[in-house]
Amino acid sequence: MIRCHQIGPVIQFIMGRVINGQLIRAMACYYIDGLLIDSGTIHVSAELAGAFSGLPIHTLVNTHHHEDHIGNNSWFQKHRKLGPALAHPLAVPIIEKSSPTILPLPEYRLKTWGDPPASRAQVIGSEIITENYRFKVLETPGHSPDHISLLEAEQGWLFAGDLYFGEKVIEIHQDEDPNNMLNSLMKLLQYDFEYLFCSSGKVLQGDTRQAILAKIAFWEEQRAQIRFFHKQGLEAEEIRDRLYGPETPLYEKCEEELGKIHLVQAFLKGIDHQ
Ligand SMILES: [Fe+2]
Repeated sequence: MIRCHQIGPVIQFIMGRVINGQLIRAMACYYIDGLLIDSGTIHVSAELAGAFSGLPIHTLVNTHHHEDHIGNNSWFQKHRKLGPALAHPLAVPIIEKSSPTILPLPEYRLKTWGDPPASRAQVIGSEIITENYRFKVLETPGHSPDHISLLEAEQGWLFAGDLYFGEKVIEIHQDEDPNNMLNSLMKLLQYDFEYLFCSSGKVLQGDTRQAILAKIAFWEEQRAQIRFFHKQGLEAEEIRDRLYGPETPLYEKCEEELGKIHLVQAFLKGIDHQ
């Protein structure tokens, strides 16, 4: 399913697969002035021609290499004659190779977002210029090492991919690095922006700086508590249970890739037992 929302000159495309009548784990691509930020899950490729009909697209950017962000690169390159997708240097070789590079994708990811075919990619520069706007490229690693965000300072728009997600996040993916995410969030605070466009579909407007500060404060508090209990001699699972309770059914559904334990373990990385 693809749903469109207009937010000023920005068009948001919510994309996701419908299973048993429910839209599952949808993601958002954004279109502005000929620029397409991410290409979405391959499961919706049959709907792209209709959804993007009449929209000129000149440039495709991938915020990172995850399958729900690059899945339709090859469709846009074939059917809309787009050039290489622009991405972080670490993302380029992954996007360009066929999916075994990022395989084995667990079954739930194949079912939810699909297997992205290889597509052409090229290292992104320091900015993207469209007819009316200028986007600064910011390296914002943590969700993945190759994650970038795009800032249009004049308009106050920040396209932050999967960096923000929400304030009180206690379940993270096994390969996410919340310490790097904290650094990236702090980096964002150097800039002024009024809109925060997330790949989750969330669009924050107004005091977005406060939202980011709140997320930083929450995770810093979690990190302090996790390390405190670690110093008391608790194991990671005990810390998880004490702070957040046991895993939800999502943990099993996601083949243990997404869970509370990963936040605890990530904040304990590099901490010696005392
Ligand atoms: Fe992602």
